[in-house]
Amino acid sequence: MSKVTSFKIAEKLAQRIPLNLDIGLVIHNAGSSITGRFTKLASEDAEMMVNINSLAPYFITKAFLPRLLKRKERSVVLNVSSGASLFPMPGFFTYSASKAFLSYFAEGLSQEMKFEGKTIDVVNYTPMGVATKMSEMKADLFIKTPELAAKSSLDSLGW
Ligand SMILES: NC(=O)c1ccc[n+]([C@@H]2O[C@H](COP(=O)([O-])OP(=O)(O)OC[C@H]3O[C@@H](n4cnc5c(N)ncnc54)[C@H](OP(=O)(O)O)[C@@H]3O)[C@@H](O)[C@H]2O)c1
Repeated sequence: MSKVTSFKIAEKLAQRIPLNLDIGLVIHNAGSSITGRFTKLASEDAEMMVNINSLAPYFITKAFLPRLLKRKERSVVLNVSSGASLFPMPGFFTYSASKAFLSYFAEGLSQEMKFEGKTIDVVNYTPMGVATKMSEMKADLFIKTPELAAKSSLDSLGW
């Protein structure tokens, strides 16, 4: 995914995808988690995290929504949030807040779509630990493999 930090770029991205290509699922998985206390965290890093974790999914959803809504079948927007969104932690709260934005966005948009009777599900996936480059943790009883995390994120769709 290219770096999307504004609606104009997201719109261009959506326009580059041929209209005859049926898109029924948009997944916002790209994310960044840079730790550091408020006084130490570089402003550029904080800005990048908020852009990639919060604003990019917001603008990409806005750009793709008209295409998703035109479909006869149900469509899905899947946001990959984080368990960190549930509680702010010292040294980590910028990431937590950027993911909390994503969770609120998914839950709010989901309600709006239901209220308007639209055939679209907005799903918020909130994993705790996944054994990836980001976490640098190994899979165990509590830390999911990436494959299991991907499966869990789709389980709630009921298809
Ligand atoms: N691992 C965990 O324990 C855990 C827990 C909760 C939530 N999550 C969330 O799960 C999602 C996937 O993360 P992961 O664990 O698979 O970590 P990862 O291996 O570090 O993958 C992060 C992905 O985001 C992309 N990305 C990062 N910054 C980007 C940018 N500025 N523009 C475009 N793409 C960018 C990366 O692309 P490149 O490879 O090209 O850099 C990579 O594909 C993230 O949203 C993360 O916050 C992870």
